Amino acid sequence: MLDRTASRARFITFEGGEGVGKSTQVKRLVNSLSRRAIPAVRTREPGGTPKAEAVRAFILQGRSEQWGPGAEAVLFAAARLDHVNQLIAPNLSSGRWVVSDRFSDSTRAYQGLTGGVDVKLIDALETLALDGHKPDLTIILDMDPEIAFRRVLERETEASLVATGDRFEKEDLDWHRRLREAFLAIARNNVERCAVIPANQSEDALEIEVWDVLTRRFPELAAEPVA
Ligand code: TYD
Repeated sequence: MLDRTASRARFITFEGGEGVGKSTQVKRLVNSLSRRAIPAVRTREPGGTPKAEAVRAFILQGRSEQWGPGAEAVLFAAARLDHVNQLIAPNLSSGRWVVSDRFSDSTRAYQGLTGGVDVKLIDALETLALDGHKPDLTIILDMDPEIAFRRVLERETEASLVATGDRFEKEDLDWHRRLREAFLAIARNNVERCAVIPANQSEDALEIEVWDVLTRRFPELAAEPVA
């Protein structure tokens, strides 16, 4: 049994490019934790709280595009600040694990390393928005963007992309290759926090690999009985 006095709730984030299967693995991980009677909440960025969801809608509809990536980085950070204060921190302090589909590495990868926003601004926004709540573990799902692209297009037709206006998915392949390198660079610079998992495998195989990483990082989990 998990020694609840000796262990604390962990903050786990999933990162990666478009179409790598993050959302499915976030759901599966929360289920795996719940099956072991470990309370866990699933959340996402941008979003997670009503105010942050409003920022999400504003950005993903393309309304902030004309402001440029610097202002967008500030908007993502504003949403994150609310998400951390209203959802992430309170849940962790009540003993619930938090699993987020994207977090601050997305700002560093999309707006910073790929979008050209100065690293000093990215660092400052991260310090401000995280308020000390760095993830305990970040899983970066890595996939050749050409394969990921095909998966996204199978999921959503070009017409529906235009209809939903999710403009980040419309960038070209070269841009996605740079985005992939950005996430890999983040992993190299944060080896203690990040684990890169090749994502071009079945959902079941990926789930097993994710759980393997979890039990290696948090050995107390391995002893938990499964309901
Ligand atoms: P979403 O539909 O959630 O995409 P995905 O399923 O790939 O996570 O849209 C979120 C988009 O916002 C995605 O393209 C990544 C982008 N994004 C940033 O550019 N910066 C950020 O800080 C975050 C959190 C997301």
